[in-house]
Amino acid sequence: MKIIKVKDYAKMSEEACSIVVNKLHQLENPIFGLATGSTPEGLYECLIEEYKQKRASFKNATTFNLDEYVGLDKNDPNSYNHFMNEKLFNHVDISNEQTHLPNGAAEDLEKECSDYEALIREAGYIDLQILGIGTNGHIGFNEPGTSFSSRTQVIDLDESTRNVNARFFNSLDEVPTNAITMGIESIMESKEIVLLASGENKAEAIAHLIEGEVTEDFPASILQKHAHVTVIADEAALSKVKA
Ligand code: F6R
Repeated sequence: MKIIKVKDYAKMSEEACSIVVNKLHQLENPIFGLATGSTPEGLYECLIEEYKQKRASFKNATTFNLDEYVGLDKNDPNSYNHFMNEKLFNHVDISNEQTHLPNGAAEDLEKECSDYEALIREAGYIDLQILGIGTNGHIGFNEPGTSFSSRTQVIDLDESTRNVNARFFNSLDEVPTNAITMGIESIMESKEIVLLASGENKAEAIAHLIEGEVTEDFPASILQKHAHVTVIADEAALSKVKA
């Protein structure tokens, strides 16, 4: 696991941005795995700027997002679909057909999950997966206790996750109780993974990710077993790492 220590959120975002831009230049048809939440917003802003300055183009890229809330239509302002359109897709040269998120409003959710897996497989798997990390160690929405051999599935959101994410909703009651998420095994099939973390509230999680026991009780710990992971974290997020 490679650790890149940066000063702050802005530097974390720039560092991640340069890795994504390099992939856009290196690969003919790069496939990206993308995350939502507060952590990657700065990365997406930087990518939009790179596109505007004509230093990066997404016209040959494909994207797969990690997760989506169950029960929210893709146009719902709290859906991750909407988030991605607002924060990235609407501002760069990528068409709807090139971007993928699970459909949380699908009638048959099981089929939606297996179809999503099939799409990633048929595309040739993810070249670069961007991850954030939950304070409870979740990656995607794979909450503590999720099997390391899980594939894309419907999960129950932890109460702690619903509480943390309530900041995006009018009230806790509005936060969905379920989500579709790529599974741990699906994430581990990515050729390369970049995990981003900023702020003191991520320090415990980052310490466990880097130095803790590999256990299903802390899903992100499985990344210790992946051959090509880079953690880009700021000083505050790395403040509890001992070594
Ligand atoms: C989002 C996702 C989650 C977040 C995590 C951290 O697509 O998969 O695992 O990365 O909950 O969220 P933030 O960045 O808001 O702290």
